[in-house]
Amino acid sequence: MTMWDGRFGTSPSKLMHEFNASLPVDQVLIEEDIAGSIAWAGALSRARVLTAAETKRIVRGLRRIRDQYRQGKLRLRTTDEDIHMAVERMLTGMIGKAGEKLHTGRSRNDQVATDFRMFVMRALREVHASAGLLQKALVRRAERDKAVIAPGYTHLQQAQPVSLAHYWLSFVFALEREKDRLDHAIRTADVMPLGSGALAGSGFSVDRRALAKKLGFSRVCENSMDAVASRDFVMEALAALASFGVLLSRYADDLIIWSSAEFGFVELDDAWSTGSSMMPQKKNPDSLELIRGKAGRCIGNFTRFASTLKGVGLAYYKDLQEDKEPLIDSVTTAGMSLEVFAEAVRSCTVNRKRIAHRLDSFLFATDLADYLVRKKVPFRTAHKVVGKIVAHCIARGAALDSLSFKELRGFSRAFSQDVLEIFSWPRALAARNVEGGTGMRSVTAQLRTAKGLVARKRK
Ligand code: ARG
Repeated sequence: MTMWDGRFGTSPSKLMHEFNASLPVDQVLIEEDIAGSIAWAGALSRARVLTAAETKRIVRGLRRIRDQYRQGKLRLRTTDEDIHMAVERMLTGMIGKAGEKLHTGRSRNDQVATDFRMFVMRALREVHASAGLLQKALVRRAERDKAVIAPGYTHLQQAQPVSLAHYWLSFVFALEREKDRLDHAIRTADVMPLGSGALAGSGFSVDRRALAKKLGFSRVCENSMDAVASRDFVMEALAALASFGVLLSRYADDLIIWSSAEFGFVELDDAWSTGSSMMPQKKNPDSLELIRGKAGRCIGNFTRFASTLKGVGLAYYKDLQEDKEPLIDSVTTAGMSLEVFAEAVRSCTVNRKRIAHRLDSFLFATDLADYLVRKKVPFRTAHKVVGKIVAHCIARGAALDSLSFKELRGFSRAFSQDVLEIFSWPRALAARNVEGGTGMRSVTAQLRTAKGLVARKRK
């Protein structure tokens, strides 16, 4: 028996029921579904479709179901098709006839779109908060590591010295853009479909604006067909979450490399690592590897749902039911990844000695060229001169900062005594106090900005 079997001769086959049922997935919408139904009952009452007594019974019943759910006492029946049917069936079982009136003027099409938009907003806000936690951990780390001078890499080749805080802060600012993307996705979802009926608008003149306000929406959908058909809010959420995955994966990749014996820049805390079943000495940065690996899910979930949506005309087709699984998976994956990353960053050890030891004198090469430029040598010439000096050093197995003034002078007359001052790490950083640079003053300013970002409340 189903709620729509009036025109049917037989029930769906067992296999069809299983194929069609979305309850195992959409039961997480129960809070939203009940809130939506309570608001709907109120709207029907104000539209004089329900009597005050009927409304009261419905609202009481729905609240009771919610209490049972919250106390873990609710047992959902696998014979229900989805959470909307399950709640309605339980309500009618509980209060009788009045329960049968709740679905007046409403369709599961506008109901599910409303529930899911509410769910997406709630879930994205949680991911937003988790991103804030990671930013906080990174800011704290940056404060601690301000004085640590590390090799900065491009192409995984040592490039120029940077403050380690500069590196951590790069992550904070990138996360801020991800949060902006989430905010945008939340705004897209923040439009209420309820009152749109199956596609043509409810047959009862309910006050949609009052409904929206009650359910925490800022706006109502302008067009009932668009309201039940649109799922671009899901795509946008999935795209924002995929972008999170990509970002986290890139930083995880760096830290995985930095945890290797070859680098040894950082060591993850034992609590965020795992061992090998065979090699007793192993300590693997699995937390970071999983963050990198799971990013694939978030990318896949976007592609997966976009592929479903592209074939679906207006207004509602059952294909749209496929929107929930990828979204739930992406939200869970991104949220957990952010939390794990925050803990890994908070608890890892930075091996300052090892980092200092790894600073290669060739990291001064650009500073040496800049020195010549300040002595009026055209940059291209300076680049060539320093290139020759580097080749000379490599051939002799000598460090760049081991050359004497006289030796340097042999490469260019533009060198004077003060050239040797170039070979100082703090000086190399101090030369880069340009806004956004790695100089101590610039990094301090960035840190101030970053602290402002993490202290800011979401609107
Ligand atoms: N479980 C469905 C979904 O998630 C609810 C909407 C069903 N609507 C319908 N017309 N059959 O999309």
